[in-house]
Amino acid sequence: MHIDILTLFPEMFDGVFTQSILKRAVQKGLFSYTLHNIRDYSTDKHKRVDDYPYGGESGMVMKIEPIAACIEHLLKQKTYDEIIFLTPEGKTLNQSIANELSMSKNLILLCGHYKGIDERIREIFITKEISIGDYVLSGGELPAAVLCDTLVRLIPGVLNDETSALSDSFQYGLLSAPVYTRPYDFRGHTVPDVLLSGNQKLIDEWKLQKAEERTQKNRPDILEGE
Ligand code: ADE
Repeated sequence: MHIDILTLFPEMFDGVFTQSILKRAVQKGLFSYTLHNIRDYSTDKHKRVDDYPYGGESGMVMKIEPIAACIEHLLKQKTYDEIIFLTPEGKTLNQSIANELSMSKNLILLCGHYKGIDERIREIFITKEISIGDYVLSGGELPAAVLCDTLVRLIPGVLNDETSALSDSFQYGLLSAPVYTRPYDFRGHTVPDVLLSGNQKLIDEWKLQKAEERTQKNRPDILEGE
């Protein structure tokens, strides 16, 4: 999978892509990305990328020309499965959207800033709008990083143990069961004995029960949605 990210703040991605699973996916050749600074596509002599909104609203709007130039430059080289705009007005990201998008070969992610982007960018280029939750962030960079992380860990071969993405929360409509490692006893808090029993059937039943209890307590909406 290759992801082209259009942003005004490419440095914001430095830490995210150079650590842990994303770094390993890049090293294994399973994932690649290119950061494009939208400002580089401005033909304005001051490299402006925003302007006042028509209609007198407060705040600035990202201009259409630099974003269009960047997207058109990319479209000349490749075809894309989706051109995604990260915005609080988009569809809320969930595991099923992530599973679907993880099959993509090429994606463009557009990160917005200021008051928003000129609506015509949406009309002409955007094929999907994604929000990472019902709250407003200062820009689309953190949401784009969240989306990349959730997609890349689903690419076969990225995680060492192929089954571990399948046991993530949400994959089976439940949150994950608790997990433990050594020591057995930490200040009197011990590991549930069933996990040491060696009886896989009992262990699986216990995990399912704990996953159901946790989902009922923290996310009853998931159970109701069934
Ligand atoms: N940009 C600002 N807030 C956002 C959110 N919640 N999701 C996606 N993009 C955003």
